[in-house]
Amino acid sequence: MSQTIAISGKGGVGKTTIAALLIKYLAKHFTDRDILIIDGDPASNIPEVLGMETDLDKSISRVTYHLKQKIEKGSLPPGYDKGLHLQNEIYKIMYEEDDYDVLVLGRGEGKGCYCFINNLLKNILDPLEENYDIIFLDMEAGLEHFSRRTDRDVDELIIVTDMSRMGFNTMDRIVEISKEVHLTFSKYWIIGNRFDEEAKPILAKRVADLKDKFKIDIEVIGHIPQNKDITMRNLNGDALIDLPEDNPAYLEAEKMGKRIFKH
Ligand SMILES: Nc1ncnc2c1ncn2[C@@H]1O[C@H](COP(=O)(O)OP(=O)(O)OP(=O)(O)O)[C@@H](O)[C@H]1O
Ligand SMILES: [Mg+2]
Repeated sequence: MSQTIAISGKGGVGKTTIAALLIKYLAKHFTDRDILIIDGDPASNIPEVLGMETDLDKSISRVTYHLKQKIEKGSLPPGYDKGLHLQNEIYKIMYEEDDYDVLVLGRGEGKGCYCFINNLLKNILDPLEENYDIIFLDMEAGLEHFSRRTDRDVDELIIVTDMSRMGFNTMDRIVEISKEVHLTFSKYWIIGNRFDEEAKPILAKRVADLKDKFKIDIEVIGHIPQNKDITMRNLNGDALIDLPEDNPAYLEAEKMGKRIFKH
């Protein structure tokens, strides 16, 4: 059984940063496992924080866009197996790193209906995901993807918040919407990012209220401090995955990773 986990929260709260820290933990401690990272943010930052060569052509939306164009132009031979074509193209755009594979969803390109292609895609991605033990998704900010239910196969949800009212409100809305659209997460993990001591009990209270109201398995798993090395790496364009292992933010993420990921 694979474990599928997505990370969500308000814009700019640190989703991709925390994703990178948790992926660093996975790369170090789950070397015997097959790991798939999915970058579900149209603004795609995962390759950068993981220190990979970024290639804009390597995204699922590019591949589906090109296929759609070919279908519309009628340039495919009769009886052409579009599903097989898509499958081959997806293998070509997969980044294969030493410790994990990475798939970038990319930005929706062109207008019109992708329903046919999206169905083909689902038939390819579902069996592909079965090849992995852990699938970890970095999502775009906000809530829209929840109502589109792009996360329907996700088992557990991480919600990141900073010490802002909007961050807390977005956390509440994410939980509410997930219940409204009947997404059944077996666990909601809450992470406070850039947190001071004073804000911790406020978050704990908000999460206890959510637990009472929605009768869900939800808990604050920890807090990541504001960290100078993370700031400087971001400014200099240096990969977060290369943070030293004694970095305090990484050490906190390591404690969380130990509880979140199942061997
Ligand atoms: N703990 C931290 N210490 C220092 N800087 C941080 C920390 N967490 C996040 N940042 C910085 O905050 C900014 C936003 O972080 P990040 O890109 O991870 O947020 P996000 O939630 O993924 O944003 P988006 O909604 O755009 O995807 C980045 O510049 C990042 O370096
Ligand atoms: Mg992000």
